[in-house]
Amino acid sequence: MRMIKSFLAVLLCSTITVAQADTIAIIGTGNVGSALGPEFAAQGHTIVYGSRNPNDRDVAELVERTGNGASATTQADAVAAADIVVLAVPGTLVAEITAKLGDLSRKLIIDPTNPIKLDLLRMRHVAATSNVDVIQSIAPAADVVKAFNTLGWKVMIDPDIAGGPVSVPLAGDSGRAKRKVADLVRGMGLEPIDVGDSDNARWLEGMAILLINNNILTPRPNFNFYLREMD
Ligand SMILES: NC(=O)c1ccc[n+]([C@@H]2O[C@H](COP(=O)([O-])OP(=O)(O)OC[C@H]3O[C@@H](n4cnc5c(N)ncnc54)[C@H](OP(=O)(O)O)[C@@H]3O)[C@@H](O)[C@H]2O)c1
Repeated sequence: MRMIKSFLAVLLCSTITVAQADTIAIIGTGNVGSALGPEFAAQGHTIVYGSRNPNDRDVAELVERTGNGASATTQADAVAAADIVVLAVPGTLVAEITAKLGDLSRKLIIDPTNPIKLDLLRMRHVAATSNVDVIQSIAPAADVVKAFNTLGWKVMIDPDIAGGPVSVPLAGDSGRAKRKVADLVRGMGLEPIDVGDSDNARWLEGMAILLINNNILTPRPNFNFYLREMD
C-alpha cells in the first residue's frame, strides 16, 4: 500500500496544477497533525503547522519530513495564511483554541476531534453537542466538516494495517466543502462517505468512542469502519 500511495502521490503532484493546490494550516503537531500534514503535502498542498512551540526541534523535524514548502508558525498566523484549517487539537479544548485563531470566515475547517475523556476504564463523551457545532458557533462564516475522527492516526498513514481502505465518514452542511475533503481522503488511499449534515457529527464522535472502547480499552478484536454495498 505504501508503494501504491507513493506512486499516487507522484501522479497527483504531476497532474495537480498550482491553482488547485491549497495552503492547509494544521493546528496541533501531535499524532493526528503529524499524520495528516505529510499526507496532504504528498498530494501537492502546502502545509503550515500552527504550534504553541513552532521553533521546537520536534516541529522542525516534522516540517522537514513534510516537505513541499512546509513551514511552522503560531496557531493564529498559520490560520491567516491558509484556505483550509485542520483542528488537530485536544477535543475538550476546541472552544478555547478556536476562539484564539483569528478570522475564520470563508475558511474550510476540518474537525477530526473527539470531546471525550477516560472515566472508569472507558471513554465517555463530555460535551452537550458536537465539536462541529462548537466550532460553527465561534466561526459562523466558515464551512466546517467533521472528518478523520473515527480512525486511528496509524491507519491514516497506512490503511494496510487495518486490512485495506478504511471508510472516512464526512459530516457537514456544505456539499462543496465535503467534496474537497473527500478528495483529500481519496488521496490518502481511504474511502470518503458523505453521512449528511452537521447534525450527524455528534454521532461520528460516538463512533470514535465505540472504536476506542473496543480496540484499545477491552480485549475485543480490533475493527474499523468500511463502506460496503448491501445486496
Ligand atoms: N490519536 C488518534 O489516533 C486520533 C484519531 C482520530 C481523532 N483523534 C482526535 O484528534 C485530536 C488530536 O489528537 P492527537 O492524538 O493528535 O492529540 P495530541 O497528540 O495530544 O496532539 C494535540 C496537539 O494539540 C496541541 N495542543 C495541545 N494542548 C493545547 C492547548 N492547550 N492549546 C493549543 N494547542 C494545544 C499540541 O500541538 P503543539 O504542541 O504543536 O501546540 C498537541 O500536540 C483529538 O481531539 C483526538 O480525539 C485522535
